[in-house]
Amino acid sequence: ASGCKIGPSILNSDLANLGAECLRMLDSGADYLHLDVMDGHFVPNITFGHPVVESLRKQLGQDPFFDMHMMVSKPEQWVKPMAVAGANQYTFHLEATENPGALIKDIRENGMKAEVQWHSQGPLQVGLAIKPGTSVEYLAPWANQIDMALVMTVEPGFGGQKFMEDMMPKVHWLRTQFPSLDIEVDGGVGPDTVHKCAEAGANMIVSGSAIMRSEDPRSVINLLRNVCSE
Ligand code: DX5
Ligand code: ZN
Repeated sequence: ASGCKIGPSILNSDLANLGAECLRMLDSGADYLHLDVMDGHFVPNITFGHPVVESLRKQLGQDPFFDMHMMVSKPEQWVKPMAVAGANQYTFHLEATENPGALIKDIRENGMKAEVQWHSQGPLQVGLAIKPGTSVEYLAPWANQIDMALVMTVEPGFGGQKFMEDMMPKVHWLRTQFPSLDIEVDGGVGPDTVHKCAEAGANMIVSGSAIMRSEDPRSVINLLRNVCSE
């Protein structure tokens, strides 16, 4: 794939200094920020919600792109709060909703309103995520209505898990069927695994611990981008 974007996941960063950690990632060349929202129900872990996103937006200004990875049981509930708080993309889980079509429509409508508040951001984009156990065929009917598909390469809930290579056929199938769709991978992606994602056709790369653990995040981000864009 050409022109891969790298979105660090700040889940495993120093959460007491979240603003500074986000700035550190942006200064290190991050193309966007992947923000993991967990409700302790859809996944067995809790992180943060829209009030924290609003604070980050105030601190970081209008430019950085916030990809909200909503690992929550009621994704319908947080669209408007997240839009107002300054999200750029609302990435919800297909497993968490009975009516993906209505949710997509709601995200688009709220995004138009939110645009009034955050002029430079553009409309709220739609991401649709699937867990490792979910077949990609369930995502396909929505692919033409979304901006990005997220193929999870770990069971959502925690950073630092092992990359599931057997998810790559999903990415490859989506790339073949939907050539212009943005496809994101998330979980266990780092210098050792990014080439597999790129070969399969992913063009948005989330990486958490591989970047956060490094003393030199800039070189890791550059490496990921270069390998992926080859
Ligand atoms: C896992 C999260 C991921 C995670 C990625 O549930 O969705 O974004 O933080 O971290 P690594 O790259 O360490 O797997
Ligand atoms: Zn994530």
